[in-house]
Amino acid sequence: MDRPRCKTGIEELDAELNGGLPLGSSVLISGPSGTGKTTLCMQFLVNGTKMDEKGVFFTSSEPVAKLKKHQSGFDFFKEDLLKSNKLSIIDIWSISDRLGLSPERYTADEANTLFEVIRDITKELGAKRLVLDSITSLCYRLETKEMIRDFVFKIGASLAAMRCTTFLTSEIPPRSFKYSIHNVEEFISDGIFFLSDVERKGDLIRTFRVIKMRGIAHARTKFALNMSSKKGIELAPLLKSNM
Ligand SMILES: Nc1ncnc2c1ncn2[C@@H]1O[C@H](COP(=O)(O)OP(=O)(O)O)[C@@H](O)[C@H]1O
Ligand SMILES: [Mg+2]
Repeated sequence: MDRPRCKTGIEELDAELNGGLPLGSSVLISGPSGTGKTTLCMQFLVNGTKMDEKGVFFTSSEPVAKLKKHQSGFDFFKEDLLKSNKLSIIDIWSISDRLGLSPERYTADEANTLFEVIRDITKELGAKRLVLDSITSLCYRLETKEMIRDFVFKIGASLAAMRCTTFLTSEIPPRSFKYSIHNVEEFISDGIFFLSDVERKGDLIRTFRVIKMRGIAHARTKFALNMSSKKGIELAPLLKSNM
């Protein structure tokens, strides 16, 4: 039997995934700075609100005010969504401070407390889509690979149980052949989307590829990822995009 799907609302991506993400899966959105990770995540949440699915965006890489300002440059992002609680943006470091957690390295107990708060907020909001941007900056506070593995695993498992689909972003250096700095997150996540840059005739072209998606058959086409104020992120097969 085919698994229930969560449509990203990005047409070419849903086609690549033969109808969308398996509902409740966790996907690592991996790529260097400026490749479109944050925007892809926000568009995924906003598209969800059009399907009556609430979204929550936990940010640890940009302060909330800056994130809103940057995303306001895209037509898809509407502040009204925040007022109506269809979309919530929450600063991870503010929560961490309020909980009195260590500002440097978390103990295993502290990491667990933060995980529980993220889970409880998501449940309370009734969110069906969650973004954690970025898992990389959070992982700097988790001392060992075991703690990172445990944290990412618990997030994935508890949100799957709530039928909430999750995007975790992973910051990697440019021209990297790794999907994460800590080499752990990609093994725990159900899927990996890889964003990158290629140089063509003096221009940097953004690229996108589905690397893995557990539980479904999917293609692995390399796409050109285009960003515009009017349409946000769009994908076009790289070979056909005249680039
Ligand atoms: N309104 C816009 N229209 C088109 N492109 C934009 C717009 N605003 C920002 N960008 C592009 O998006 C990039 C940032 O994308 P972002 O999603 O923040 O990437 P990442 O999270 O991977 O660092 C900017 O460097 C800029 O090139
Ligand atoms: Mg970003």
